[in-house]
Amino acid sequence: MHRTHYVGDLRAEHAGQTVALAGWVSRVREFPDQSFVILRDREGVAQVTVERDNPAFETARRLRAESVVRVEGVVRLRGEGQRTSAYPTGDVEVIPTSVTVLSAAQTPPFPVENAEGVNEDLRLKFRYLDLRRPEMLANLRLRSRVQAAITAFLDAQGFVNVETPMLTRSTPEGARDFLVPSRLNPGEFYALPQSPQLFKQLLMIAGVDRYYQFARCFRDEDLRADRQPDFTQLDMEMSFVTQEDVLDLNERLMRHVFREVLGEDLPSPFPRLTYHDAMDRYGSDKPDLRFEHAFTDVTDLFAGSEFKAFADAVDAGGVVKVLTAGELTRKQIDELERVAKLKGARGLAWLRREGEGFTGGISRFTGAQARALLERTGVQEGGTLLFGAGAWRGAVEALGAVRVALRDLLNLASDGPRFAVAWVTDFPQLDLDPDTNTWTYMHHPFTAPHPDDAHLFGTPRQGEIRALAYDLVLNGFEVGGGSIRIFEPATQTRMFEAIGFTEQQAREKFGFFMDALTYGTPPHGGIAWGFDRLVMVMAGAASIREVIAFPKNNRGADLMALAPSEVDEAQLREVGVAVAAPEATAD
Ligand code: AMO
Repeated sequence: MHRTHYVGDLRAEHAGQTVALAGWVSRVREFPDQSFVILRDREGVAQVTVERDNPAFETARRLRAESVVRVEGVVRLRGEGQRTSAYPTGDVEVIPTSVTVLSAAQTPPFPVENAEGVNEDLRLKFRYLDLRRPEMLANLRLRSRVQAAITAFLDAQGFVNVETPMLTRSTPEGARDFLVPSRLNPGEFYALPQSPQLFKQLLMIAGVDRYYQFARCFRDEDLRADRQPDFTQLDMEMSFVTQEDVLDLNERLMRHVFREVLGEDLPSPFPRLTYHDAMDRYGSDKPDLRFEHAFTDVTDLFAGSEFKAFADAVDAGGVVKVLTAGELTRKQIDELERVAKLKGARGLAWLRREGEGFTGGISRFTGAQARALLERTGVQEGGTLLFGAGAWRGAVEALGAVRVALRDLLNLASDGPRFAVAWVTDFPQLDLDPDTNTWTYMHHPFTAPHPDDAHLFGTPRQGEIRALAYDLVLNGFEVGGGSIRIFEPATQTRMFEAIGFTEQQAREKFGFFMDALTYGTPPHGGIAWGFDRLVMVMAGAASIREVIAFPKNNRGADLMALAPSEVDEAQLREVGVAVAAPEATAD
């Protein structure tokens, strides 16, 4: 089978040439004396013009959308009036000498030509048709180019690409494991890796020095637009480095990728925020910095105030924060209040500026604070103040969710830069689980504490320990996260103790790793980028599923291959697994 050109590559310079093309019929427009066949391949579309006296006329008329055809013919420059700039091949047409149907298509379940608004489940069920759409193909090709740019950069920097196992044991990254029963060891299970974390650290102990991998990771967690149960990390680790070394290399890598692939220049250096400041100013540890709308602290204004909810919050050691917005309708405020409540706030207090004072919302109670509020927030006439009050973390997180909802409501990000990148640093080492009142790790248990704070392990102040951990944030998404690691066995033991692991529990889960630490471990650190997430943001896509060829839907199902699925009784017996009746659910 011989093809001379991609359909989408034809240009005026090919006029007069005999070509052989192969591709999909995008559509056929029929007129009494001629038909136009729009042919499509991965490079684009071109028009095949078939006049009534052409021997291929009848074949062309019977062509059905999405059939695969081969066309031989001559490229002709279109007449002046017929040219179009709507697509790159619009200056030419192909006059066929033969049209051969290689594979006839039945009527597709949705028009590939115009899939806008088609139900996503239907697109996923017929993903191979969905991927024929130029937008989807462009996403896959963008993904491929990003991967190539990363590989080229890291290879040049002396990184070694090493693969780590898929069938392994649990690595703690905060989600549930996917388990795989072992036929050879009945009753025992492998876990699919949530990340290659322990293996990459072992590679540093092994002396690899600089490692990377495009690593498939598996996490059984609730799905969102930016999460998949089966996703890809750009995973890397470096020996004999400080936090600054890791951040610097990753900034250079990221700038390289954006310049190579999108022609975009990212700032040098990247802006940095501490976890505390990110939360305090934007109510999120992954703030969208394409727009500002930082909070103003007004805690001091409300100590002992008439508005009891705020006064009580301040009394209890909490905070009052305010987000300054433009003019908002009642309906918009109600919508924002709904968002605040979803984040656990009791409501969303608000004020509207009118002249030198405020109306609406809680204005009856804020006469005493009006002047100071005007000065501090600089709110414009008609503008709105939105409040978050209570214990610090809850209050800022609720207002942070309101800030993001406000962005979506008013399209705030569209005035800013196309990409806003930042590092968030100084995460807490430990997190208090409010349900059980026990300490757990914030990142993962191998993250090194800040050396100035490590003495606080095991004291009542261990919540104040900062970690040598950092996240890479892009347009409000956490696109990467990493840390400097614990490399001294004694510190690792102290960390396990701090999160309530007994020596025995730690040994059971990570004995092999704790042993390895005692055989000569270089100081090391690294990071993993959410590769799908990064490509999603680069593509300007609304969901991670748009940049993954065969994703699961938001209920974790592959609608095309129909996974997950039941398996044969015999297969279950072979792996020594019995399926219990599903537990009855409350609803
Ligand atoms: P972390 O758990 O932060 O760190 O993961 C790193 C990055 O992976 C992406 N990510 C996901 N992307 C899609 N779907 C998911 N379910 C999903 N979960 C995470 C995020 C995240 O920033 N071993 C550590 C890295 C390290 O310390 O070097 C780790 O896995 O973009």
